[in-house]
Amino acid sequence: MSSAMRVRVKYVLQALLLCCAAALSTLCLYRSLRLPPADKKGSSSGSAWQERAPRSLSFGSRDYEVVSNGQLLAQYDTNELQQPLDPAEVTPALQVLTSISDVFISVKTTSNYHKSRLDVLLKTWFTLAREETWFFSDSHDPEYQERTNGHLINTNCSSSHNRKALCCKMSVEFDTFLRSDKKWFCHFDDDNYVNIPKLLSTLGKYSPQEDWYLGKPSIRTPLEILDREKKTQSGINRENIKFWFATGGAGFCISRALALKMSPAASGGRFISVCEKIRLPDDVTIGYIIEHLLKKKLTFTPEFHSHLEPMKFIQQRHLPEQITFSYSGQGKDQNVLKIEGLDPRIDPTRFMSLHCYLFPHYSFCPR
Ligand SMILES: *[C@@H]1O[C@H](CO)[C@@H](O)[C@H](O)[C@H]1NC(C)=O
Repeated sequence: MSSAMRVRVKYVLQALLLCCAAALSTLCLYRSLRLPPADKKGSSSGSAWQERAPRSLSFGSRDYEVVSNGQLLAQYDTNELQQPLDPAEVTPALQVLTSISDVFISVKTTSNYHKSRLDVLLKTWFTLAREETWFFSDSHDPEYQERTNGHLINTNCSSSHNRKALCCKMSVEFDTFLRSDKKWFCHFDDDNYVNIPKLLSTLGKYSPQEDWYLGKPSIRTPLEILDREKKTQSGINRENIKFWFATGGAGFCISRALALKMSPAASGGRFISVCEKIRLPDDVTIGYIIEHLLKKKLTFTPEFHSHLEPMKFIQQRHLPEQITFSYSGQGKDQNVLKIEGLDPRIDPTRFMSLHCYLFPHYSFCPR
């Protein structure tokens, strides 16, 4: 055999091996997670709910003070959003590399919500990512410290729901991720259900060694604010800056490569200073650092869902394809997933019914 021939045979063998490995691990992942078959009911496409969502989603109850200061100018220009990768361009080798142990999952919570919000998370999706998930709160709580296997971090931040307290927690979340050896930083709220297999398969499409900021905006236009940095000679600032941000309530993920680039502006508590300087909430500040300071783009990932969206429009058969879900309100104003399953008195958030739909073998699921 000539040496050129030998090299070619070697390459063919390597390629074959890689393909086998990819096929095997995909099979294993699906086997172990026992994904349910797609529901045959319903007929419209996965993006249908979005078209039926309100045209302009409000900021909800969060304290966006720029709005009341009249400094927020909205412009409609979704073309600036970076579109997700075409699945055809995705290499199978990358898919193999994302496992749950590559991901740092951070959940922001507060002492008042430990009982009412964490219980359902601990029963459901947390069981699929016990080692990787950390809860960031504002008090010492021995009961939940134990129930999370010591994964409840007291940030020592204030327990109020104001900008400063939220930025303080995000700052601790970010620093804790940097100290870990994980490849992805994924932030969620305590009213999110995280579909772990879908989170992993989504992250598998992107390399953590490249700069990625994955999430979904809650407004249909980039945020436009006055640039407080720029000083003109007259001292009057007329320059605006525009950027997209992923809404924190839907969850977002940042690759390690990008987090390291954010580090000079965001690590060691500096994140709080940036929040204070631009006077915007934590999730907006993340967008500001990535899009404005670092000039990297948010990759629009529609599978993240916050309670600002109507949950009932996500069709049951499309549930396995979504990364996050949420809930809010009570009674007539309730915003929850429309899903069959457990009695709403037992499962008011519908997260247990959702979990049973995705993973029917859990003990609390109807047989
Ligand atoms: C919060 O304060 C306690 C007690 O001073 C300290 O042990 C702990 O490390 C602090 N937590 C953080 C995240 O700084």
